[in-house]
Amino acid sequence: MKSTLLEIVICTDCGGNYQLDGNERLVCASCDRTIPVVGGTPLFTLPPENINPSEKQARSPEMGTPWRQANWRFLARQLEEISPDALILDVGAGRGDFFDGLRGRNTLALDVYPYPEIDVVCDLTLTNPFKPGSVDVILLLNVLEHVYDSKALFGALARLLKPGGRLLVAIPFMVKMHQIPLDFVRYTHFALEQLAADHGLEIAVLEGFYDPMFFLGEGIRNIQWPILRKMRGWRQYVGRALLLGVRFLAHLMEPVIGPGHVRSPYEAISLAPTGYQIVYRKK
Ligand SMILES: C[S@@+](CC[C@H](N)C(=O)[O-])C[C@H]1O[C@@H](n2cnc3c(N)ncnc32)[C@H](O)[C@@H]1O
Ligand SMILES: [Zn+2]
Repeated sequence: MKSTLLEIVICTDCGGNYQLDGNERLVCASCDRTIPVVGGTPLFTLPPENINPSEKQARSPEMGTPWRQANWRFLARQLEEISPDALILDVGAGRGDFFDGLRGRNTLALDVYPYPEIDVVCDLTLTNPFKPGSVDVILLLNVLEHVYDSKALFGALARLLKPGGRLLVAIPFMVKMHQIPLDFVRYTHFALEQLAADHGLEIAVLEGFYDPMFFLGEGIRNIQWPILRKMRGWRQYVGRALLLGVRFLAHLMEPVIGPGHVRSPYEAISLAPTGYQIVYRKK
């Protein structure tokens, strides 16, 4: 277990400090409350019963959807402004898809599911064992939409930040449902701004990622898989031919339209960002 973790968690019953007892549990020094430790990872909450755990996938700045590639660039840009010894809590780190971008940093990975990559299992909407103001930077990359009580999570994270600390959020907007059934919300940037105002944070960076070609591709895939495959006889042939034509036209449009780009949602012409990337700063 990482020693930094023991320094920033406290007993939610009495505020006492935890000590590691053998390798199997944390014990509160003041009230004897215990937290199970499995494979070196403390479990402050039980994993959701209906979760479909993610498989480990090869990830890199050049892999994955344009949205995820944008997330890599966003993270790299923001890390340049963050001190090398800052404590970074990666909330909803999952299979550690962005860990390569965090190499050499002082990090703690948190999730509700005990993936092998995770340092601490905790659903902060249920219990918050972390000391207020104990973390310099929080990453919340593609997580908020998976949390039913997303405002409660946001509030818990705002409390965890040190004054001047940063919360880096990536949140999809025009992206199909994923990790179902645990996909609950899409926020507009107006709501993301309101979250800041409600929780004593200011917005340092607010950008939308706009990618019309990806949007078009999703539309085509929506026809190809759920509809075309079910068609029979001549309808399927005509449908396939038409779709082929649409795909060819989309292919021709690609160099004209260009790749996805980042822009302030107040300057963007489109009201359909793939997602938002935000840096919140605690006042
Ligand atoms: C789509 S994955 C994103 C993983 C990683 N951050 C990324 O961008 O590749 C969402 C993750 O959030 C986790 N999660 C869901 N609810 C959570 C909560 N209340 N607190 C922390 N993590 C949560 C899920 O278990 C899952 O690993
Ligand atoms: Zn206690």
